[in-house]
Amino acid sequence: MAKSIDVSDLNIYYGDFLAVEGVTIPIAAKSVTAFIGPSGCGKSSFLRSLNRMHEVIPGARVEGKIIIDGNDLYGAGTDPVAVRREIGMVFQRPNPFPTMSIYENVIAGMRLNAKRMKKSEADDAVEKSLRSANLWAEVEDRLRRPGSSLSGGQQQRLCIARAIAVEPQVLLMDEPCSALDPISTSAIEDLIHDLQHDYTIVIVTHNMQQAARVSETTAFFNLSAVGEPGRLVEYGSTTKIFSNPDNESTEAYISGRFG
Ligand SMILES: Nc1ncnc2c1ncn2[C@@H]1O[C@H](COP(=O)(O)OP(=O)(O)OP(=O)(O)O)[C@@H](O)[C@H]1O
Ligand SMILES: [Mg+2]
Repeated sequence: MAKSIDVSDLNIYYGDFLAVEGVTIPIAAKSVTAFIGPSGCGKSSFLRSLNRMHEVIPGARVEGKIIIDGNDLYGAGTDPVAVRREIGMVFQRPNPFPTMSIYENVIAGMRLNAKRMKKSEADDAVEKSLRSANLWAEVEDRLRRPGSSLSGGQQQRLCIARAIAVEPQVLLMDEPCSALDPISTSAIEDLIHDLQHDYTIVIVTHNMQQAARVSETTAFFNLSAVGEPGRLVEYGSTTKIFSNPDNESTEAYISGRFG
């Protein structure tokens, strides 16, 4: 089941540096939320804090609260490793395991989770995930070739297949299309449309059209000056944010009159 995410008063630090300050936002289950805003405002940092990937950086920590479907993400009883398995993440740069085959890449996460998998089960899961990621037709006859033998756009879709193979309830995507051609981009946007019925999706994008096409809710982050923390300026229905935002800086950003 997809999960809702409730963030309150979140501060994100790298050592002494406060990178993101005071974020409060509810993220609805089974919806697509887009994070937009200028470079350095903390979109990636915030995204990583949602599956406890932020703290793997030495000195990095967060303050505040994130509740995912009633559970305290940073609570004492929460296992960060389990969280990272349940909350999938797709990074801006495709990062398939280079020496693993396409097939093994897709089920790498499942192998960690499951004790033993029948071959037929694994085959089915690989096909299903690759079909969902719009990659099956291009790789079905070369599943045993290394993941690194694919093009950049194919590798990104392979990483998406890997992320969804474990059926995470939440899928976080950090600029998943920034290195992709329009055809791969459109395939991934189609996939996001398909997935949103089952998953809670958060996507960071610098592409305003993409945010408008794929998301129901948009959150605009900004920073007042270099060295200052990034802040969530406003969030709301994507239609409203792109037509009639409350804040002047949102208006300036979405209409390209920024800086
Ligand atoms: N590993 C790190 N160590 C120290 N500071 C970091 C680290 N990663 C990011 N930062 C700083 O945190 C702030 C927010 O960075 P972040 O990458 O979250 O921004 P962003 O909104 O994703 O930017 P972009 O649009 O360029 O990807 C920046 O000032 C950045 O320099
Ligand atoms: Mg980023």
